[in-house]
Amino acid sequence: MTKSTNIVWHESEITKAIRREAKGHKSAVLWFTGLSASGKSTISVALETALHARGIHTYRLDGDNVRYGLNKNLGFSPEDRTENIRRIGEVSKLLVDAGLFTLTAFISPYREDRNQVRELVETDEFIEIYMKATMESCEERDPKGLYKKARLGEIKGFTGIDAPYEEPDAPEITIDTNRLSISESVEVIVSYLNDNNYI
Ligand code: ADX
Repeated sequence: MTKSTNIVWHESEITKAIRREAKGHKSAVLWFTGLSASGKSTISVALETALHARGIHTYRLDGDNVRYGLNKNLGFSPEDRTENIRRIGEVSKLLVDAGLFTLTAFISPYREDRNQVRELVETDEFIEIYMKATMESCEERDPKGLYKKARLGEIKGFTGIDAPYEEPDAPEITIDTNRLSISESVEVIVSYLNDNNYI
């Protein structure tokens, strides 16, 4: 639902197709989802470096970073998480229109919220990457010490502890982060992009 009335869409002369042609590659959202400490940020950073080395234009949106700016007014209630993902979905759509591979690293715990983003863009523009990691391994890694705080009751509603994470039903890519190294994970994603003629 749009709140504004009396608004009219204004087309640009430079279209997504023209921008893609100028760059020499397609554009899409690479949507990383998974528990905190599952490796979303790490793998998306490494993937961006690998894509950049191939001359591919990218932009990365990261949960913690975006919450310092665009989404600084949102917390971790179910409603705020939904709004967090909705905004990132819209920003991603703009960046795909700009001709970029957009790498997003958000827990995005609700299946419905992720599917809403999938609906926002064209069918082949949303690549869901499930960072599959056991709760035990995420809790063991705990790079920010947040699982520990959540166990002590210092953080309420922490994903995986007292807030849900809904696994994707049919992600385009699943990365088993308990088994694959960083470079192997990057290789799986780059191969997917190659095999499906994205790059
Ligand atoms: S999402 O659920 O709305 O997609 P997002 O990816 O933006 O979450 O932010 C997750 C990051 O916020 C975590 O990696 C962690 O550093 C921090 N964080 C702080 N509080 C919570 C919480 N209650 N649940 C999950 N992550 C939290």
